[in-house]
Amino acid sequence: MIILGIDTSCDETALAILRMNKGKLEILSNVISSQIEIHRKYGGVYPTLAKREHQRNLVPVLKEALLKAKLLKLKTKNQKLKIQQTKSQKLGDILKKEEVLYGKLKEFLEKYQKPKIDLIAVTTGPGLEPCLWQGINFAKALAFWWNLPIVGVNHIEGHIFANFIDRNSKFQLPSSKQITNSNDQNSKQLLFPAVCLVVSGGHTQLILMKKIGKYKIIGETRDDAAGECFDKTARILGLSYPGGPAIAQQAERGKFQTPNPKFQIRLPLPMINSKDYDFSFSGLKTAVLYEFKKQSQKKRISKQYIKEMAKEIQQAIIDVLIKKTIKAAKNYKVKSILLGGGVAANKELRKQFKREVKKEVPKLLFIIPKPKFCTDNAVMIAVTGYFHRKKASKNWQKIVADANLKIG
Ligand code: KG4
Ligand code: ZN
Repeated sequence: MIILGIDTSCDETALAILRMNKGKLEILSNVISSQIEIHRKYGGVYPTLAKREHQRNLVPVLKEALLKAKLLKLKTKNQKLKIQQTKSQKLGDILKKEEVLYGKLKEFLEKYQKPKIDLIAVTTGPGLEPCLWQGINFAKALAFWWNLPIVGVNHIEGHIFANFIDRNSKFQLPSSKQITNSNDQNSKQLLFPAVCLVVSGGHTQLILMKKIGKYKIIGETRDDAAGECFDKTARILGLSYPGGPAIAQQAERGKFQTPNPKFQIRLPLPMINSKDYDFSFSGLKTAVLYEFKKQSQKKRISKQYIKEMAKEIQQAIIDVLIKKTIKAAKNYKVKSILLGGGVAANKELRKQFKREVKKEVPKLLFIIPKPKFCTDNAVMIAVTGYFHRKKASKNWQKIVADANLKIG
């Protein structure tokens, strides 16, 4: 089975093509067109701009994904002659709100043959609604033109499923209960129930995963997401967007242990000891703003100060995330901890998480996707679509965007 995955939930136009063969998955292509440079000016994602860029990028990204997967073939003259007027009109109806996309896609579909794809998986939410619709309408147009089944995917579930992509781009899929330890093919370890921490630009959620498709949110942020906190505090410090990698880069050059003795930075660790599993990061952002202003007034902002402050911010976020996740893992007596989302790409977070899990809950399986599968991509969407392939249908009219789609 060959699956095309599509994700346009935020500022990346991502398409991937996977082949599933006897439980093994092979990534045939994984293309991401990032809009970071465009949004950098605004210090964050600007939805109308993002939507416009998706319209422009979707067809070139599809072409590249098919080409890399060796699935792009020109039509013969005969095939070109066969296109019916009514079919083109229907395509126009599906994309009536996306004029730019329609023009590009019509030209593409008239030129190239139907590729050997069996299923289309597209993100339906959560995300920025105008952006989600671009991917969805594009997927609908393809499903209609190529007469393919389509399945809607939850982006958060996608971040969790990124854990099932193996190191060498071929991966061993877990059965409903087990996962094969990639270091030792003979030792099977129970995976479920699992506690999943999804930390991205828009979400910070602790999810209890009883099995594939069965989730319960046990904690989430009450205000800003962890990634948002990285992005907003980076902006305060004058660092570029996205803030996570910018803060991580500065933090790596910080000299002092936290809490910092030289600059006496004291940041709060919001809700670290609260009884529930919720998070709150806006207080941390406000504390950074306050500290930064105070130092500015004293004319004490130096390159070194920025590095030390970045280190403190990163550590505060890491401390809270690790403590709450391990507490949830202990209390819910889970078999594994899974991480996902852009913030899980953070090197220091990965290192410290591994260390703490080993110390606190050594029997648990601890899995983090490769950094490139933590941030938004369509491989994770295609994998999730594969697991839910029984829900796929040719009734593409039913698929709609839901900006606030919940997992569980
Ligand atoms: O999952 P993702 O790519 O998109 C969303 O679904 O939101 O996550 C993006 C977020 C941004 O806030 C970005 O600053 C953060 O992930 N991020 C990082 C790192 N790389 C990306 N945060 C900390 N350290 C990183 N290395
Ligand atoms: Zn994401």
